[in-house]
Amino acid sequence: MAATAAGAESPCLPCHAKQVEAYARTPMGNSFGPAVPVPPVAFTHVESQTRFRVLSRDGRLVQEISRNGLAAEHPVEYRIGSGNHATGYLVRIGQWLFQSPIASYRRQGMWAMAPGYEKMQRPDFNRRVEADCLNCHASGSAAAPEPIGCAACHGSPAPHLQAPSRGNILNPSRFPSAARNAICEQCHLNGEARISQPDKSGGPAAVVVYDRPGNDLRVVSHVEQLALSACARQSREKLWCGSCHQPHGAAIDVNTQCRNCHASGLPDSHRAQTECTSCHMPKRDAVDGGHTAFTDHRIQRSAATPAGGSASRLRLWRDVADPGLRERHLGLASILVGERDGSTALINEGYRRLSAVFSRWPRDPDVLAGLGMVLFLKDQQPDAVKLLRAAVAQRPGDAVLHEKFALLRRAAGDKAGAIESLERSIALDPGRQSPYFFLAETQPDQAARRRTLERLLLLFPRSLIGREALRELTRP
Ligand code: HEC
Ligand code: HEC
Ligand code: HEC
Ligand code: HEC
Ligand code: HEC
Ligand code: HEC
Ligand code: HEC
Repeated sequence: MAATAAGAESPCLPCHAKQVEAYARTPMGNSFGPAVPVPPVAFTHVESQTRFRVLSRDGRLVQEISRNGLAAEHPVEYRIGSGNHATGYLVRIGQWLFQSPIASYRRQGMWAMAPGYEKMQRPDFNRRVEADCLNCHASGSAAAPEPIGCAACHGSPAPHLQAPSRGNILNPSRFPSAARNAICEQCHLNGEARISQPDKSGGPAAVVVYDRPGNDLRVVSHVEQLALSACARQSREKLWCGSCHQPHGAAIDVNTQCRNCHASGLPDSHRAQTECTSCHMPKRDAVDGGHTAFTDHRIQRSAATPAGGSASRLRLWRDVADPGLRERHLGLASILVGERDGSTALINEGYRRLSAVFSRWPRDPDVLAGLGMVLFLKDQQPDAVKLLRAAVAQRPGDAVLHEKFALLRRAAGDKAGAIESLERSIALDPGRQSPYFFLAETQPDQAARRRTLERLLLLFPRSLIGREALRELTRP
């Protein structure tokens, strides 16, 4: 079996029992696991008039969804999250994992919609869990995920297990500051967009962030916040996550850390203060966290003076030496974030940046698709279709790209072409649900639509939105 992170099976236990046992008690050491039954609960999501019930059956956690007279039961396979703030749930349908639309929240001791589902009109168990979720929350393989393991921070253990010594295992605290910070940034830095490198050039995805995040705290934004603090900016990279957090071992006394650096020069008003974080690192609600509060890592003088301004400009978290590559990454990110936030200015900026470097990457499918999406938004359908056709030719195995191509072909009036692209998308990845609905919407006759929805239901018989769509189609 695979090397488990923590607990009795850990291959590290014989020699590092202290670290293994301490780590097993932390939220990160419990980031993932099998779902276990809980006392029964029920609630209604008012916006969508959907009723949820949580129950246990044969020792398993089960979640039931019902709406408009249709209902489905989903046995839950995994929990995601230690429950430190919240716990999400995953169900397995066929060979795929899907996110549950509901979550439990510790602070309120309640169940409610999972983050991102709050305003949904037709919530269902239809959001596939993609690799990114598991990359940050679990170790092991997608087929058998486990809690985050030692390797997330210490790298591959194989050479060390063969001949244990200091020299053949990574220790973050011995790294130069950028490499050290990068260990935690793998998961604690989400940014606005992650941009893949051009095909075949390899290397990690480039993370793009806003220069000055506003006052909004997000669930995953500790890295950006700390970087804004005067403490981090002016302590010559001495301050890092590990100054206040110990992944395993005794908790660090944060107030002592503050005092170590601020031994002198504190205002007179501070003489009596022994505790520092309640004023300088208060808890706030996260804008995307739904019912959870997080600690403000900007370490500001006072809550009323945000460290950043309101101006926001996208930039690479780690700049690259090649100015063309920088333009490519920023161009792609501007378009993605512009689409997400409905910002024409950002979309135009992205178009300008990408056009300027297009001659260097004329066959880069990300660049082609990015430019194509802008032309689509500008209603220049024939040119948009040309760009997407070229992108698809470069990356023919990408189901998402085929679905985008279908969108553009349909907008250009080519329904038959759109149908062809959607069939391709489904053939490549039958577990993504959106192309079925898009296909049914695009097909000209009722019988074909019906067959498409039936194909979806063959794979996902409990799909509520699939059954709703079929009912609407066949309603007299
Ligand atoms: C058979 C005993 C043994 C096993 C098993 C073992 N180690 Fe070690 N480990 C050592 C020894 C010996 C050292 C060196 C200690 C020293 O020189 O201070 C070490 C050092 C380390 C260090 C510190 C490196 C540094 O630069 O400070 C880390 C981190 C580490 N081990 C992680 C692990 C992890 C993770 C595992 C499980 C995958 C593991 N070890 C399994 C014996 C072992
Ligand atoms: C593989 C991804 C990953 C890496 C790498 C990672 N974290 Fe985490 N971290 C998480 C996740 C996911 C959670 C939430 C765990 C939960 O509660 O389910 C978390 C939670 C935490 C927490 C809050 C819980 C607690 O223990 O108080 C702290 C603090 C933390 N991480 C610090 C760090 C530091 C410091 C580093 C770098 C040395 C680091 N993390 C590296 C994914 C990661
Ligand atoms: C870039 C890495 C990253 C990605 C991608 C990511 N998360 Fe997280 N998530 C985190 C980190 C880090 C935390 C801990 C935040 C904290 O404690 O402040 C967290 C917190 C959570 C929590 C609360 C856990 C707790 O109790 O502290 C849940 C539930 C969760 N994420 C679910 C998900 C799901 C579901 C997905 C995929 C749709 C996802 N996350 C994608 C990094 C990530
Ligand atoms: C979230 C990142 C993270 C994870 C996960 C993690 N470690 Fe560490 N580990 C560190 C850091 C950071 C240090 C350096 C601590 C220091 O010097 O203050 C360290 C140090 C060590 C050391 C050197 C002795 C010490 O305690 O300073 C050993 C041994 C070790 N880790 C073993 C493990 C084992 C075994 C696991 C899995 C059960 C594990 N670590 C999981 C971040 C991590
Ligand atoms: C590694 C050293 C270090 C640590 C640890 C540290 N600081 Fe700082 N901090 C600095 C430096 C350097 C500055 C900038 C110069 C100054 O104002 O003293 C600063 C500035 C500040 C400021 C002024 C902020 C502003 O925008 O003007 C506050 C408030 C502050 N720190 C509070 C704290 C608190 C509270 C803690 C503990 C949670 C802490 N610091 C931990 C080094 C540190
Ligand atoms: C100057 C000290 C300090 C530094 C440096 C620091 N943290 Fe924290 N962190 C805290 C405090 C204090 C808390 C609140 C702990 C509590 O409530 O028990 C916290 C809480 C957290 C949590 C739990 C969720 C939350 O927001 O309350 C996560 C995750 C976290 N920190 C991640 C990080 C990461 C990642 C870094 C590096 C980018 C980092 N921290 C650097 C002091 C620090
Ligand atoms: C009751 C709330 C409160 C507590 C507790 C508190 N501070 Fe402050 N701190 C403030 C306020 C308000 C200011 C800005 C006004 C001022 O200068 O007095 C400030 C200013 C500072 C500054 C900037 C000083 C300067 O002149 O630039 C530092 C550094 C600082 N605090 C560190 C700390 C440390 C370290 C602790 C813990 C020993 C602490 N604070 C505890 C409220 C607090």
